[in-house]
Amino acid sequence: MSSLPSIGVLVSGSGSNLQAIIDAVEAGCIPCKIGVVISNKADAYGLVRARSHGIPTEFVDHRSFDSREAFDAHLVKILRSYDIRLVCLAGFMRLLTPTFLGAFPMRVLNIHPALLPSFPGTHGPRDALNYGVRFSGCTVHFIDEGIDTGPIVAQAVVPVYEDDTEESLAARILKEEHRVYPMAIRLFLEEKLTISEKKVFTGNAGRISGFSCRNPDT
Ligand code: GRF
Repeated sequence: MSSLPSIGVLVSGSGSNLQAIIDAVEAGCIPCKIGVVISNKADAYGLVRARSHGIPTEFVDHRSFDSREAFDAHLVKILRSYDIRLVCLAGFMRLLTPTFLGAFPMRVLNIHPALLPSFPGTHGPRDALNYGVRFSGCTVHFIDEGIDTGPIVAQAVVPVYEDDTEESLAARILKEEHRVYPMAIRLFLEEKLTISEKKVFTGNAGRISGFSCRNPDT
């Protein structure tokens, strides 16, 4: 029996972040196994990705529960049955209630396609583009009871160009998501993260030296 901790990944759609996590685990870059992938959508491509790598999957239709809490309690039951240490949301389109968060306190990560606290919600790339910011990016954060308000673990930055569309910007951000999410999961599992008053500390792991960036850079 493997002594590696298990993580659970929750998806609702394509699961390209799930794929990045699977690839990193298989390459030995994250010290864990993926115990289970759960989706609230039967046709989520993330489920196909998981199955093709031999990972157990569960489909749980949120519409068949009377309340968000009942749905969350069921998810918790499944995750506990797989002895999950960390839950990773990867395009999971349901808000989690205290029922879920209480079962996994500061043990639920999410990836968001914007530089939080700017542009929370479901349209990060569109909102960044409409605002006219020169940089956007992605954020890995712990989930708390707010919407995209939890402690920030890692961010990656991309430039925003004047001829970007929502799609081109989202694609540029997504590429960075695939790098930064596995890295953040690794830091968590290596117990490099400590949280104090809403701030996450990594003990200076991966400190950048001499970073500076301009856009436009003429
Ligand atoms: C990503 O943009 C992620 O930031 C957001 O949902 C999207 C999921 O994409 N939370 P995928 O399913 O991982 O391809």
